[in-house]
Amino acid sequence: QLRRIPRPPYRLPLLGDVLGASRTKPLQDSLRHARRLGPIFRRRVFNREIVFLWGAALAADMADESRFAKHVGLGVANLRPVVGDGLFTAYNHEPNWQLAHDVLAPGFSREAMAGYHPMMLNVADRLMDHWDREMAAGRTVDVPGDMTKLTLETIARTGFGHDFGSFERSRPHPFVTAMVGTLTYAQRLNAVPSPLLLRQAARRNATDIAYLNHTVDDLVRARTAGGPGDGDLLDRMLQTAHPETGELLSPENVRRQVITFLVAGHETTSGALSFALHYLSRHPEIAARARAEVDQVWGDTAMPGYDQVAKLRYLRRVLDESQRLWPTVPAFTREAREDTLLAGEHPMRRGAWALVLTAMLHRDPEVWGPDAERFDPDRFEPKAVRSRPAHTFKPFGTGARACIGRQFALHEATLVLGLLLRRYEFRSDPAYRLRVTERLTMMPEGLRLGLERRVGTV
Ligand code: HEM
Repeated sequence: QLRRIPRPPYRLPLLGDVLGASRTKPLQDSLRHARRLGPIFRRRVFNREIVFLWGAALAADMADESRFAKHVGLGVANLRPVVGDGLFTAYNHEPNWQLAHDVLAPGFSREAMAGYHPMMLNVADRLMDHWDREMAAGRTVDVPGDMTKLTLETIARTGFGHDFGSFERSRPHPFVTAMVGTLTYAQRLNAVPSPLLLRQAARRNATDIAYLNHTVDDLVRARTAGGPGDGDLLDRMLQTAHPETGELLSPENVRRQVITFLVAGHETTSGALSFALHYLSRHPEIAARARAEVDQVWGDTAMPGYDQVAKLRYLRRVLDESQRLWPTVPAFTREAREDTLLAGEHPMRRGAWALVLTAMLHRDPEVWGPDAERFDPDRFEPKAVRSRPAHTFKPFGTGARACIGRQFALHEATLVLGLLLRRYEFRSDPAYRLRVTERLTMMPEGLRLGLERRVGTV
């Protein structure tokens, strides 16, 4: 059945479709193939035939939860040695997925989010103190580096009552370095025929995993010794029994969940904020409109309240539009629950899987128009959204295994962008061309911005 699906023209024996492939930027490679080969295509990477799809009808069919489910494969499966049956990497049939999902989902309720809000404000203040100092010293700011500091501190404090002291360091916290190491290694494993070829990197990876485990074990030990926090995610992981079965997460599973949340809870939001700041700095008229909204909705309230964040409708569209062009999780994988016909056309056996290329789905001219590559937040005006087919905007994945932290990320990112727009004008370097690094997630590379403090603002 695969034969009907297009593939690149030059296939090498044993190696497959690897001619000209980039080992460090596999996603951007797939985007190039997608443009040439169309809405569904396949690539053979060594002995593995991978089907990619991005056409709107195909992606919408894949979102049918009665016939398809998350597939734990490729980069996600490669993270199993780090986080095993943690929420992100669990197989659908593993009992710890449902258990952890039910225990942790209330940690993202509206009420819980309102409780995190003051801590998010506090971390944003630290960022702005840092940026004020950089500005006073006449320096530009390191956007991805500082967004990573901000989002790591935010998830660590709100979820785990922990302070990594990121803003007191000039270099990234070693937790971040170890995390980037394991994510990059998981990605590289897809680009070699056997893990044996990465022996040296494997040793480094083992050290990185040991560092992550050790950091998290210390954090859990401190909580157990010091007594409960204020009902945060860690309290839930350690103490909350499943409402029906009364079961608790095992200590090993707690470790996996803590790493999962510390990583998933900051790396992606950091990228989303960084891309948004890039686009805001390149489109002064859009920044001005977003800034005017912030001024109007927040006035000069030093501490905007929880409910005032969702009122920044235009700013939220800026964020959506950045996530459209550069979804920081650029793809997800789905498998057939039973034998089925994808989009009435492609037969799939039970367990067969394909990769949904979100980053390309979000640029499909048939959905987004001939100017799909252009940055335009008005695409997310309610009327425009209603006029588009369902399942064409999927930065947070789909179905039961979609992102549990979606509201958390959106609240944090909107709040921070609002605060930054209110305080600064951004000056981009005209020579900068957007380059995107890949370590399973996407991040702008080398993005620095100049800042000017707005006059008479809080
Ligand atoms: C799952 C994206 C922020 C925790 C996912 C998935 C995507 C995603 C696409 C599904 C992956 C798949 O189908 O394989 C994002 C983006 C974020 C973000 C783009 C920020 C802009 C967060 C935050 C948290 C978080 C802030 C935690 C505080 C998780 C977890 C899962 C997940 C635990 C696994 C859920 C499950 O399988 O039950 N995320 N995420 N994410 N995300 Fe996020």
